[in-house]
Amino acid sequence: MDFNKVGKEAQEAINKCRDLSELEEISRRYLGRKGVVTSAFQKIAELSHQEKREQGRQLNQLRGKLEKEIEQKRQGLKDSFFQEKSERKIDISRPGKRFKAGHLHPLTQVVRRIEDIFQLMGFSVAEGPELETEYYNFDALNIPADHPARDIWDTFWVKGAKKGQKNLLRTHTSPNQVRYLEKNHPPLRIIVPGMCYRHEATDRTHGFQFMQVEGLMVDREVSLANFKAVVEKFCQMFFGPETEIRIIPDYFPFTEPSVEVSIRDKDGRWLEIMGAGLVHPNVFKSVGYRPYEWQGFAFGVGVERLAMIKYGLDDLRQFYQGDLRLIQQF
Ligand code: DAH
Repeated sequence: MDFNKVGKEAQEAINKCRDLSELEEISRRYLGRKGVVTSAFQKIAELSHQEKREQGRQLNQLRGKLEKEIEQKRQGLKDSFFQEKSERKIDISRPGKRFKAGHLHPLTQVVRRIEDIFQLMGFSVAEGPELETEYYNFDALNIPADHPARDIWDTFWVKGAKKGQKNLLRTHTSPNQVRYLEKNHPPLRIIVPGMCYRHEATDRTHGFQFMQVEGLMVDREVSLANFKAVVEKFCQMFFGPETEIRIIPDYFPFTEPSVEVSIRDKDGRWLEIMGAGLVHPNVFKSVGYRPYEWQGFAFGVGVERLAMIKYGLDDLRQFYQGDLRLIQQF
């Protein structure tokens, strides 16, 4: 085989070649499994030792050169392909593309609004863990192990790190009353937003996962009248200045007296939005305060509930389905 001739032919073919598929064809013709160069390699096996060395060297050189040339050409063809394509693509008369920015989830927006309103009234925002201990979720809130009220808050129990210890997904944000009082001294005003969990069959108004905002105000003399003023102000800022509220008795182990707060909708019906009351002396005792030295009110409000009323939605589960048709309305 005349290596020079083959090399020249190949070089000419590469130079003339105008597109990638043609180039791949050339590559196959010379370097492919049955290509000219490859077959020549197979043939030199039959030659004498001396010839084998000489021809092998030349063949190797030829193969290396062709590989390099083909690769360079391939790169060149690709570059000009993209260049032409992008030149053809630019149409400066076309309108621009609007950048799609996301936004906060409606529930986050509602929590932020709640935070803003309470901050205006001097409340700070605190946080607490979603994985709670039995003590903070129940015992410290005047709900001992055998108390029937535990049934209202059936939950997901989680094995604790220590032997015999039981943790749980918090059933409400109320444990943070105790957590905060342990670390801070009154007078104080806080709200604590957060996710809560209950072992519950879901329906339009119940989720196994939902958000609450806890509230707590402690001072020397705090009464239900103070609570009423704060909650009325809150509702009017959140739902509108004409909003009417109603406060009637209820029961919670960690408040005495306990109440339920409702607002009146446009059809005159009362819609419950939160539980509340004056902090029970046993809660103060559990954080080492002398009872009656301090007084306070506490409340717990359901975030989805507020959002549903405000936006006129009838199914709490919609907030957790990630359906853009809903989310993009906010
Ligand atoms: N933790 C209660 C619940 O999840 C709500 C609640 C009621 C919170 C009364 C309070 C309160 O702080 O005083 O149903």
